[in-house]
Amino acid sequence: MLNQNQIQSISDLMLQVGEFQLEQQKFLSTIKVEEKSPGQLVSYVDTESEKMLVSGLLEITPSAGFLTEEETTTIKNEELYWIIDPVDGTTNYLFGHTKFSISIALYSDGKPVYANVYIPADKEMFVATPEGAFLNGTQFRVSTRANLNDTLIGTGFPYYKFDEMDGYLEVLKVLMKQTKGLRRMGSAAIDLVYTACGRFDAYFELNLSPWDVAGGAYIVQQAGGTVTSFTSDPDYIFGNSILAGNPEIHEKLLTLLNEQNF
Ligand code: 2AM
Ligand code: CA
Repeated sequence: MLNQNQIQSISDLMLQVGEFQLEQQKFLSTIKVEEKSPGQLVSYVDTESEKMLVSGLLEITPSAGFLTEEETTTIKNEELYWIIDPVDGTTNYLFGHTKFSISIALYSDGKPVYANVYIPADKEMFVATPEGAFLNGTQFRVSTRANLNDTLIGTGFPYYKFDEMDGYLEVLKVLMKQTKGLRRMGSAAIDLVYTACGRFDAYFELNLSPWDVAGGAYIVQQAGGTVTSFTSDPDYIFGNSILAGNPEIHEKLLTLLNEQNF
């Protein structure tokens, strides 16, 4: 789908946008922040980063359309489109933390064909192509841990929709007792790529948006992991929940989540 020149140009673009974000983060106290909806923060760094990504990707893939978090473009193409989150982990970013990422995925005929999640502060670029999943050019796979009590699990806390909170907390209670620990990074894309490369054995979260998960989900799949929703709705990109993991732990968590009637 994408040739080597295009892949190289996309990596260069991600590095450039990442540099912009790190540079701007030095002047954090002067960054004007708005609340898009209650609790949902956005700054000009999000919108400027998105504009840089859209104009760069338009040069690399001129026929592609876009589905982007900050809606800075109206260019659409149902057959070929980029799903973009210019800053995944905006809250972390705006509080001066380093765990934020840029997440992009290319969809062709309804299926992912390329993804890139870049963590600028760590200089870590996770890429998935039809050939596999790569961290800074080196191929990787999901973990092989199969017993829950050997695992480290990523999750995200509900932040605007609290009607499923009780079931979610029950699952956390079980996992606190039965695993090596739980982590909440604050960037779904980072949770997913950490699952993909075996730093987590699984990750689950409710009520995210397509741009939070599209890039990371394809990277998990290309690293040999399993990605589904944890409800009866099979759609983990546009649906309301996502569960990703190595195949064994994915299955165990699916059982646990179903016991809570998700
Ligand atoms: P965002 O930074 O792109 O908004 C954290 O678990 C995930 O939820 C992140 O991918 C984050 O994406 C998303 N999210 C959206 N709004 C959030 C909020 N108000 N607080 C925390 N996470 C939020
Ligand atoms: Ca975002």
